[in-house]
Amino acid sequence: MPVPADPNAAAYHELGPDLLVRGEGIRVWDDEGREFLDCVSGTFNLILGHNHPAVVAAVKEQSEHLIFASSAFQTAPTNQVMTLLAELTPPNLTRVNLRSCSGSTANEGAIKIAQLHTGHRDVVVPFRGQVGQSLAATAYNGLARMRAPFPPHHPGAVHVPDPYCRRCFYRQHPDSCGLWCVERIDDFLTYAGSGSTACLIIEPISGVGGNVVPPPGYLQRLREFCTERGIVLIFDEMQTAFGRTGELFAADHFGVQPDIMTVSKGLTGSGLPLAAVITEERFVGMDRSLHGFTYGGHTLAAAAAAVTLEIVRQPPFLAQVRTVGAVLLDRLLKLKDEHPCVFDVRGVGLMLGVEVADPDGTRSSPLAHALHRALSDRFVITRVSEHGQGNVIEMRPPLILTEQDAHLIADRFGEALETLPSTVR
Ligand SMILES: Cc1ncc(COP(=O)(O)O)c(C=O)c1O
Repeated sequence: MPVPADPNAAAYHELGPDLLVRGEGIRVWDDEGREFLDCVSGTFNLILGHNHPAVVAAVKEQSEHLIFASSAFQTAPTNQVMTLLAELTPPNLTRVNLRSCSGSTANEGAIKIAQLHTGHRDVVVPFRGQVGQSLAATAYNGLARMRAPFPPHHPGAVHVPDPYCRRCFYRQHPDSCGLWCVERIDDFLTYAGSGSTACLIIEPISGVGGNVVPPPGYLQRLREFCTERGIVLIFDEMQTAFGRTGELFAADHFGVQPDIMTVSKGLTGSGLPLAAVITEERFVGMDRSLHGFTYGGHTLAAAAAAVTLEIVRQPPFLAQVRTVGAVLLDRLLKLKDEHPCVFDVRGVGLMLGVEVADPDGTRSSPLAHALHRALSDRFVITRVSEHGQGNVIEMRPPLILTEQDAHLIADRFGEALETLPSTVR
């Protein structure tokens, strides 16, 4: 297809500089043949990398028979995906709603189910929580910048401090704090909410918020807290599911069962749109007309998801994520020792974050952008947290990453750090 002279003339947003033409594994190539290492798996979704052969084959095969079926019908792939999700998620999660095609709409579906079931309204979200970009999800997002341009259509959002120990809201230390970030949620519910709390939605590891890994015991205590108060606990596992942490779900990694789980992103392995809300038996009952989207449960995407789930459920696949993740984490931690601007390196499995800061520890988004640019110059694709406003370099390579490529990424990361001004390096 001929490329227009200036595609920006038609685009609503300014376009990125590179025109991608091909992808394979952790690599993508542009039209000039330049090779990039994709350390964010597309948009954190390509857990099997670009164009995984099993996904390509499943989609090709399905497309020969039936590309789309309305949700009024069953198809073999959608039946398979629902059965697999019910089987693979924690045992209390038995019912799968496959009528969404994005993380935002799956989260809204989970919230609707919780509100309908409890008869309550408020949605509790941690400060750095990312719920999505649809209008309701926008209102629930933790970051004020994402909400600011829009009127408050959904006032039932209660934002509470998150378990970010390196920059604790309560100026406490994780060894001795007694988890105020759970205990004091009561104050927010009493004084900042409507008095009617339906659910708390949390990413077990805050992704966009800066790869914030909660301290030991946090999610367990949060689980108890919600149970004690009849608050539905929703895990948003968009970024953490399907092996990202080295376990199938972050719920498994932390040993905590939510009442409802939402998944999307990695579900289809190489990037077809599909999302699911997986609930306990007791939540069945929301009328189908109350939450469903034309492309929810898409047949082609479901075919991709079915093969993806069969791949990621294999114990050797998950063990490899843990091994390679440890290699990359170790290399990044060594860079932290050599570069004072690296304030923290943290993560689980292949969900890693590198936090940079000024010499006095002040968060520095410009520094993160300088490092991001230096990585781009070395053809390493990363992202800056908080939608570009934060100071954490997000690293989520495809889960098929080899040790060799983990070293290559770390080598280039080290070179990129060397280019930063010596005052901060
Ligand atoms: C944790 C989390 N939840 C929800 C979403 C929204 O998903 P989608 O963009 O598919 O609507 C995202 C997207 O980045 C996310 O990272």
